[in-house]
Amino acid sequence: MSDSDFKAVHDNIHQRQSIGHLVEPAPTHEQLNVSFQAALTAPDHHRLKPTQFIVIDGENRAAFGELLAKAVADLGELDSAQVERVKHHPFRAPILVLAVTKFQDHAKVPFFEQTLSTGAAVQNFLLSMQAQGFATIWRSGAVVESTLLKKALGLAERDLISGIIYVGTAVKEIAPRTEIDSAQYVEFWKA
Ligand SMILES: Cc1cc2nc3c(=O)[nH]c(=O)nc-3n(C[C@H](O)[C@H](O)[C@H](O)COP(=O)(O)O)c2cc1C
Repeated sequence: MSDSDFKAVHDNIHQRQSIGHLVEPAPTHEQLNVSFQAALTAPDHHRLKPTQFIVIDGENRAAFGELLAKAVADLGELDSAQVERVKHHPFRAPILVLAVTKFQDHAKVPFFEQTLSTGAAVQNFLLSMQAQGFATIWRSGAVVESTLLKKALGLAERDLISGIIYVGTAVKEIAPRTEIDSAQYVEFWKA
């Protein structure tokens, strides 16, 4: 890899930031597919491929908003005004991608490894989307554990919705990320 390619790859990682309000243009199906390919190269013990994606776009966001509202109402943690606001959540971006871990029974691959593999897949997806000029935010909330939501999406009770990734274009320029003092988080262990 050339120095300039290396810098571009590292800048893409270092400068990734979550953006809460996203607008059109949205990625095309081809652009999404490029990022799904990147996602599906994530480390994955025994290549079980536990990660699945569900895309919600366009008009489908309204029905998904209704479903989210039903799911949060069912959880009983929000008042009716808050439940009503949830219906609009999918409109915070032109495309939503649910990252789901469909746990598989395997003697050598515990569920936590499969969850982490989905996390790695999501990060690959975020970085690939950003490299194509789009912005994202990875969200979750109590609703991802809703049995009602899982059933409506055709998921099994034990499947894990690891996140709802909002994808689109940032409305304004993003300030560069400030340098992180990695020494605070890294220890060189000595024998
Ligand atoms: C599994 C997971 C779930 C998250 N859920 C939410 C969420 O529901 N709402 C939210 O505002 N941020 C959520 N975040 C955090 C944001 O995605 C984001 O990482 C955080 O705001 C830090 O910003 P940055 O990505 O620009 O560093 C979640 C992150 C992870 C890894």
